[in-house]
Amino acid sequence: MNIYLIGFMGSGKSTLGRLLAHRLGQEFVDTDDLIQKRARKTIAEIFRSEGEAHFRKLETLCIAEVAQQKNLVVALGGGAPIKEENWRMLKNTGLSIYLRVSPQTALARTKDGPDRPLIAGRNHREKLESIKRLLNLREPYYSRADIVIENNGDDPEETVEEILSRLKTLWKSSK
Ligand code: S3P
Repeated sequence: MNIYLIGFMGSGKSTLGRLLAHRLGQEFVDTDDLIQKRARKTIAEIFRSEGEAHFRKLETLCIAEVAQQKNLVVALGGGAPIKEENWRMLKNTGLSIYLRVSPQTALARTKDGPDRPLIAGRNHREKLESIKRLLNLREPYYSRADIVIENNGDDPEETVEEILSRLKTLWKSSK
């Protein structure tokens, strides 16, 4: 069984995924990294040259690839849980954890770092508006996760402890 971390851009999926994998002694995979490796292009380049629809196809292929493996901790791109085909694979092969953040946290955490085409090239106010809009649309999909964790704080170790304790409770109750 895999553990899938889902949530908006800047929700901490990669940071917490890496820490969680370490604590559980499992391998960590980031589907955004896998897509870039397979396509030999950055995500921004894929969006620019082939468009979002093509990116979503590559994303589904990479999810299918990780879903065939076992005992991974997987960080997924923010848009992955919206597609039913992806969601089915997550449900059938693992447990999902939604890292919920406020629009303000998402904005602050996506200021630096890799290009995110869906919220790129805008000023502060416009970026916050587009984050709010997308987050509202996606919340119903994200909330289908088995575990929901608020991640607006700035101590990843603390959040990992919370995830581990929630996992233990869930595993105990399913025995
Ligand atoms: C996207 C999120 C990004 C990346 C792509 C699209 C989205 O991943 O997959 O830019 O639709 O929310 P992160 O959530 O890891 O930033």
